[in-house]
Amino acid sequence: KKYSICSLLRNPELGSEIEIKGWIANIRKQKHNIFIDVKDGSTSEQVQVIVSSDLNVNTKELSAGSSIITSGSIVKSPKGNIEILAKKIKLISKCSTEEGYPFAPRKEYSPEYIRQYLHLRTKTNHFASLLRVRNSAVLAFHSAFQDEGVINVHTPILTSNDCEGAGETFKVIPDNEHLLKSMAKSGVHVDEIFFNKKSYLTVSAQFHLEALANGLGSVYTFGPTFRAENSKSRFHLAEFYMIEVEIAFLEELKPLLNFVERLLKKVTNNLLDNNISDIVSCQGINRTEFEWLEKDFVILSFDEALNILNCNASQFKKLANAQNGFNKEHEIFLVKYLGNIPTFIIDWPRHLKPFYMKECKNDSKVLAFDLLAPDVGEIVGGGLREDDFQKLEEKLPKEGVLEWYLDFRKFGGISTGGFGLGFERYLQTILKIDNIKDTIPFPRWPHNCSL
Ligand code: 4AD
Ligand code: MG
Repeated sequence: KKYSICSLLRNPELGSEIEIKGWIANIRKQKHNIFIDVKDGSTSEQVQVIVSSDLNVNTKELSAGSSIITSGSIVKSPKGNIEILAKKIKLISKCSTEEGYPFAPRKEYSPEYIRQYLHLRTKTNHFASLLRVRNSAVLAFHSAFQDEGVINVHTPILTSNDCEGAGETFKVIPDNEHLLKSMAKSGVHVDEIFFNKKSYLTVSAQFHLEALANGLGSVYTFGPTFRAENSKSRFHLAEFYMIEVEIAFLEELKPLLNFVERLLKKVTNNLLDNNISDIVSCQGINRTEFEWLEKDFVILSFDEALNILNCNASQFKKLANAQNGFNKEHEIFLVKYLGNIPTFIIDWPRHLKPFYMKECKNDSKVLAFDLLAPDVGEIVGGGLREDDFQKLEEKLPKEGVLEWYLDFRKFGGISTGGFGLGFERYLQTILKIDNIKDTIPFPRWPHNCSL
């Protein structure tokens, strides 16, 4: 019978024969027996394989990191651990320390050190645990949306709109001289030859979601998102995954905030219930770090938040002001100040948010929100969409024309609202990971895309 260590430990059939394929985590050679801890990626747990000296195994080749196939019978140790009494050990491939394997067994390395070896990071227990939590979080989000009756849709990666209008797009053009020559019409700029328009990697799927919601009802997408921000900060990636949601028939902000809060609590509780050993193994944190799950998220208006920051002005390198909004330092301070409870900032000055935000009735504010998380700051941004056709028409950017964005509003248009949740920022928050680059297998940031 073939097994993963995860399924073996979940349902061990004592006495039966099994085969495990994996890597040696640790090996101890004693006079009569060799003890090999094997891991296979399926769980943070390792299983001990006992190899008796009668087996005549060539132990020279067996070292930490080597890949092996081991078969034997399932036994229980006097301490109650599930172990394998080996009948056969086959080396698949040895781990050559002479070639410069960077990880010694049972040694702890800093994330910065490990990050130098992106292609080898899953060899470390921390990062393997992180990726298993990431996998479970993907499923937990999908399952939470399905429970809420929100429909998953695929939105394009290639697009002609810069949704956020922040000029942080990556431009896309074919890298094929021959093709470009054959498509070129006189005078057409090279950027527009392929699609007859400038095109970009998406910075947000929001406009496509709004169009789809106007017929399908509430929708979500979970896909790669690209931003050319010249930022080396520990909170920014050039390629990240965003969960974007558009809720149909939404007239007020409060139900949207409730949705976000319910979603984050549901997904996080799901992870704590089903992945606690990987959460502990990833960062050594446990349930007590999640007090916020029992509390109501805080809701503050932009003006209230600004007031708190100004009352604590001595804490900051740069003062917060209504002109520029908040920086990371301000965001993280606010959440700490409010008892480390995730905090919604609502009712933003119009000039700090994109054109599509719905205006408040009586003042110069818009019905937008950011959700700030402990130690990370903004993890969600969203709001209600402007549904006054005339206002929208006036505010629509002249560049990158979006006639279609007005069009679906003429045919039974509805009020919607939605948000984007940065998936890596979410993982960074719940796992207390200092640098966002350690939440995704192959992070991209300025000057770093070589592997
Ligand atoms: O606040 P943002 O820019 O919102 C939007 O793009 C909206 N159009 C979403 C919507 O309403 N459908 O981005 C949303 C979230 C941020 O709160 C942050 O968590 C994440 O995306 N994010 C990044 N994560 C990692 N690296 C970056 N460079 C990020 N930029 C934004
Ligand atoms: Mg934002």
